[in-house]
Amino acid sequence: MRFGHFDDKNREYVITDPRTPLPWINFLGTQEFFSLISNTSGGYSFYKDALYRRITRYRYNNLPLDSGGKYFYINDAGTVWSPAWKPAQTELDAYECRHGLSYTSIRGEKNGLSCTQRSFVPLDAHCEVQQLTLENNSDQKKEISLYSFAEWCLWNAHDDMNNLQRNLSIGEVEIHGGTIYHKTEYRERRNHIAFYHSSRPPEGYDTDRESFFGMYNGLANPQVVMDDTPRNSVADGWSPVASHCNRITIAPGETKKLVFVLGYAENPDDEKWSAPGQINTTRAEELIAQFSTPEQAETAWKQLQSYWDELLAGFQVEHHDDRLERMVNTWNQYQCMVTYNFGRSASYYETGIGRGLGFRDTNQDLLGFLHLIPERARQRILDVAATQMEDGSCYHQYQPLTKRGNDAIGGDFNDDPIWLIASVSAYIRETDDWDILEEVVPFQNDPDNTGTLFDHLTRSVEHVLNNRGPHGLPLIGRADWNDCLNLNSFSTNPDESFQTADSKEGKTAESILIAALFIYYGREYVELANRSSRETDAGRVLKAITEMEKAVEEHGWDGAWYLRAYDDSGNKVGSKENEEGKIFIESQGFCSMANIGADKEMPRRALDAVGEHLATKHGIVLHQPAFTRYYLNLGEISSYPEGYKENAGIFCHNNPWIMIGETLIGRGDKAYDYYQRIAPAFREEISDLHRTEPYVYSQMIAGKDAGRHGEAKNSWLTGTAAWNFVAITQHILGIRPEFDGLRVDPCIPADWKGFTIQRRFRGARYIITVSNPNGVMKGPSEVRLNGDKIDGNIVPPQPADTDNNVEVIL
Ligand code: GLC
Ligand code: GLC
Repeated sequence: MRFGHFDDKNREYVITDPRTPLPWINFLGTQEFFSLISNTSGGYSFYKDALYRRITRYRYNNLPLDSGGKYFYINDAGTVWSPAWKPAQTELDAYECRHGLSYTSIRGEKNGLSCTQRSFVPLDAHCEVQQLTLENNSDQKKEISLYSFAEWCLWNAHDDMNNLQRNLSIGEVEIHGGTIYHKTEYRERRNHIAFYHSSRPPEGYDTDRESFFGMYNGLANPQVVMDDTPRNSVADGWSPVASHCNRITIAPGETKKLVFVLGYAENPDDEKWSAPGQINTTRAEELIAQFSTPEQAETAWKQLQSYWDELLAGFQVEHHDDRLERMVNTWNQYQCMVTYNFGRSASYYETGIGRGLGFRDTNQDLLGFLHLIPERARQRILDVAATQMEDGSCYHQYQPLTKRGNDAIGGDFNDDPIWLIASVSAYIRETDDWDILEEVVPFQNDPDNTGTLFDHLTRSVEHVLNNRGPHGLPLIGRADWNDCLNLNSFSTNPDESFQTADSKEGKTAESILIAALFIYYGREYVELANRSSRETDAGRVLKAITEMEKAVEEHGWDGAWYLRAYDDSGNKVGSKENEEGKIFIESQGFCSMANIGADKEMPRRALDAVGEHLATKHGIVLHQPAFTRYYLNLGEISSYPEGYKENAGIFCHNNPWIMIGETLIGRGDKAYDYYQRIAPAFREEISDLHRTEPYVYSQMIAGKDAGRHGEAKNSWLTGTAAWNFVAITQHILGIRPEFDGLRVDPCIPADWKGFTIQRRFRGARYIITVSNPNGVMKGPSEVRLNGDKIDGNIVPPQPADTDNNVEVIL
């Protein structure tokens, strides 16, 4: 069952029924000001940091879900309705929500009046613009009232919900014509204000929540809207809100356009006030003046569209399956960009309070979008590297506003350091910008303690080598990629975190995944070292890689698949000897990507074992059998009910590692089969089972042991986006940036006839046509660049701004 459809031409997902199985959302904003918006106009806005600069209020886990947002109400001769259906929930005559690239347009129609609200955050601006279009399709003149509504958050999203004894007394606003200013705490240390502006001078307003709703009404039926009488209330403590009342007359056939601007402005300390107690609104007014006419708003929206056209032109595929096209050309790239902007911070599943940007997450997210905006990737790499500590370990998370590591969670997740090599190497392959290696970057944000970026990579490598256990394999620390495999914290206390509860010294438990990461990315380090004249470093690490491969072959192979780990007692994890959790996906993925034990066919055998034990029709589960009880020595992984999250759920993030492994041994049919099982556009028809948005990946799909097998959760902010993009574009379609050029090495189902890709690479454009006349899965037999046959399959970089034809025959 579906709840809408893809509009590929406009790059939109069109939702035609407001009652989606879960809120289906979109993200607005590309730089510093952001909003989340659902298909019924729920959501909130923030500036840069969803914890410290929350602009509008949102109540998570509400009943019903997704109650709260920036809303409009129309009172048309006593009938009260909302164009997004919610919050009034009056039955509409027509409803359609179009989620597009950084904008959402929702249209509702009732009794011959159509109202479209299109929301977006203009480029380079700290505000959200709402374009409202009213059309009178009836044959009678309409005299309606239009009410806007937003509820202010008192800036710090955590304190806002928490510190009520203070909060209920501090709310302050100022009203200047059509603009309502929120200025809570501005009198003291804050230098920022938020505002909500109506382009049409309103007939009335409200800023006090209780005056607007009445004490006993809710979002569906605010007293002011029901009575059609704004109170012109001025908030004085309690909960400040912003609502404009516009009284509008529309003739039959007439269209009227309004613009609302919700924004954020900062004033320097010595320019905070225009008079004692009166905020200086100059900067806010300047911002408003850029967007307050319908024409200005339309121009800003078009600029945003051109921005996306230009970005996405960097990678486009023509293929016989439109589901593949829409994933690759639009939605997967879009999700990568959103994930880059938001980390794991703010979505409908991440509350914007707990977590900032993760170290490993950020580095992996970079893999998915650095072809889009390499300059911003560069800065992000330097920022994240600056949170690394001197011994190579890393803060597990950091806050985007302060760019500082989070002390609450600390470090010692021993896979973290290695991921920095992944992002740096991918960045240089894409850009050829070797200077980045020589950038001076602090350790632990301390300007007096610095090294080059290359030094940071060396510390990463050394951190693994300095922390090896009894089998010569890397010590796992608090966890490796799987945050919930906690082999050193034996937690018996429900009031502590599984990961930070300290009980073991950590000198025994080893991770085969980290060993594989070390081998895979260690090889990239060696290349970086060799190519930047650091042969000594290269030689030393190459030797360590060989030792590590030997250690995995000797101590990390279980007979038919790779082991997962050794626990604190030196017992195997992920072995046929275990009662539960006999085989895990992570080590099968990365060990086969790293091609460990190839002469003994370990990669192929491990991948066969994945197919046999872990693959389901909804994706590949993390491990089998699921844990049916809590294992003290394994930690949080066994805390989840079977089939959910890290306890044998389908963690979409690492399914692509198996796809990539399959392509390395030439099984394009298997790789693409796994791809289709989790790719959301391929699951659109089962939206009633899958439940999250059919246009973006979710972190998890419930595994086969779960009561709700096939149901997805935690959509949008997940490393799944980047890794699936890497798997499909670089390994299945097979267009891979390398230091010496663009490698073309597709690995596809034998029955594909071919496909065409347009890709931007280091300033030049390539049109790559792949044909498969012999029906094979892998191996180019001939590659031509602009008509001339080349040796091998690496297309050397061509001059900037040239168009180049590459023909590949498999
Ligand atoms: C979450 C975390 C990620 C971790 C994964 C598995 O997605 O953001 O860092 O690797 O869970 O535990
Ligand atoms: C929990 C989650 C895991 C996530 C981690 C982040 O352990 O289960 O998925 O990565 O929290 O700290």
